[in-house]
Amino acid sequence: MRVAVLNGVNLDVLHRRDPALYGGLSLNQLESRIYEWAKELELLAECRQTNSEGEYVGWCHDALDWAGGVIVNPGAWTHYSYAIRDALELAEVPIVEVHLSNIEDREDWRRVSVIADVVSRRVIGKGPEGYREALEFLSGQEVAA
Ligand code: DQA
Repeated sequence: MRVAVLNGVNLDVLHRRDPALYGGLSLNQLESRIYEWAKELELLAECRQTNSEGEYVGWCHDALDWAGGVIVNPGAWTHYSYAIRDALELAEVPIVEVHLSNIEDREDWRRVSVIADVVSRRVIGKGPEGYREALEFLSGQEVAA
């Protein structure tokens, strides 16, 4: 199964963000782990990151054509981008929403996720390991399918 892992705005500077919240890895290190975990689970991951919302929407559309599952961490777009929500709503494959930090336990505005109702699963506040949990969920979906 091919899995698209779409990281959004400001995740390119993960290594410069508060390690207590985000785990202290660089995006490169995070993606290397994702590729290793995917391999262990016999999934084929493709990781991408952009700071352009339009590009992210385009990747969501593309992923719906080629991926059997999608992992999204849209960063701050999570909280207000109806454009990304509408793109993800088109999916017929499972989508997992991942956040490194616990968005339920931070500022009020971060508690809102406009994509929560269009995803199959949410993994929040588990740091980089959250992506492993998301991959495991998708690999279980494949078995179930
Ligand atoms: C984030 C949480 C968002 O609120 C924040 O804007 C991010 C990262 C996370 O992974 O914890 O950029 O999605």
